[in-house]
Amino acid sequence: MRKKYNWGILAPGKIAHKFAEGLKILEKANLYSVGSRSAERAAAFAKEHGFAKHYGSYHEMVADPLLDIVYIASPHSHHMEHTLLCLGHGKNVICEKAFAMNSSEVNTMISMAEEKDLFLMEALWPPFQPSYIKALDALKRGNLGEVLYLRSHFAFKAPYDPDGRLFNPKLGGGALLDIGIYPLIDTLTFIGKPITIEAFASFAPSGVDHTVDIHLDMGKGRYASLYASLNSPGGICTELFCSNGKITLSRNRDLTQTCKIEAEESDPLVYTFKPAAMGYHLEAIEVMDCLDRQVGQSSYVSWSFSRDLIETMDAVRKRINLVYPGN
Ligand SMILES: NC(=O)c1ccc[n+]([C@@H]2O[C@H](COP(=O)([O-])OP(=O)(O)OC[C@H]3O[C@@H](n4cnc5c(N)ncnc54)[C@H](OP(=O)(O)O)[C@@H]3O)[C@@H](O)[C@H]2O)c1
Repeated sequence: MRKKYNWGILAPGKIAHKFAEGLKILEKANLYSVGSRSAERAAAFAKEHGFAKHYGSYHEMVADPLLDIVYIASPHSHHMEHTLLCLGHGKNVICEKAFAMNSSEVNTMISMAEEKDLFLMEALWPPFQPSYIKALDALKRGNLGEVLYLRSHFAFKAPYDPDGRLFNPKLGGGALLDIGIYPLIDTLTFIGKPITIEAFASFAPSGVDHTVDIHLDMGKGRYASLYASLNSPGGICTELFCSNGKITLSRNRDLTQTCKIEAEESDPLVYTFKPAAMGYHLEAIEVMDCLDRQVGQSSYVSWSFSRDLIETMDAVRKRINLVYPGN
């Protein structure tokens, strides 16, 4: 086995706790350092999860020559700045979704990773999950036929707080970038990139989208209807209507996941998965496998996939006229 990798967490907020739980169960991951804007928060997070070092600034953390990989969990508005900071200090990066605010920022991040010959990946949860892999395998087998229509929703009720990450435009808040990204990941994975996009939205008083409703035409008679809302406890579900059957993917708030496969003239098959650490460790495994193989990007979440994703979100933003300060 190759040496252990020294992992650092940049911005120890809510999701960073879950990711740290994932790292803990991986033999090859050394919980090395935490960087926060606050020395107290960094120290508390390091103590809670058992990281060796803690820093009261992101700059100090990335200056440490022994740090190998940084997991970035800051708000969307800061992903490009923090990714460039890490890459500039020679660190490999896995950065939370949405990868950045727009495609121009994502292209800048990818160019720097290429230039510095470092690993970079958007931290997308679904592509690594067993339910997703089951669905892709079922489609590959061919008896379900072609995916003709995808219907997907991701909705939960978030208490309105104009300063919090979800509703603050300065932090890249809103339904599309935060949760609308998931139905779009499913669309790109299971059908492909849209050629025509229609979208509607309602807005919170802070100016970000509270709810977004997206209709996509992929060509050749293939369509998708997507819904994301911070204003309804609607849950998470994606249905793939195929020419000879149907697949339904759903997950609970605890990230227990189900894949139901209904092929014509067969009994439905239902698979339920509850991965350890809510499945977050699967992303970290991929990062370390790629570094072992000395490749700069993942085939599960390639740079071209992240580019397609952010370009589609840019196009939806244009349709609903969602403008953020400065971009
Ligand atoms: N993959 C998933 O399942 C999943 C789930 C939830 C969220 N996410 C993504 O993870 C990222 C973080 O989400 P979260 O819910 O963990 O957010 P959060 O709890 O608000 O944490 C974000 C952290 O970013 C740091 N930060 C840096 N600059 C900031 C600023 N100007 N304002 C506020 N915080 C700032 C803060 O840490 P310090 O001040 O201590 O440095 C803060 O704790 C987002 O990109 C989100 O979309 C992913």
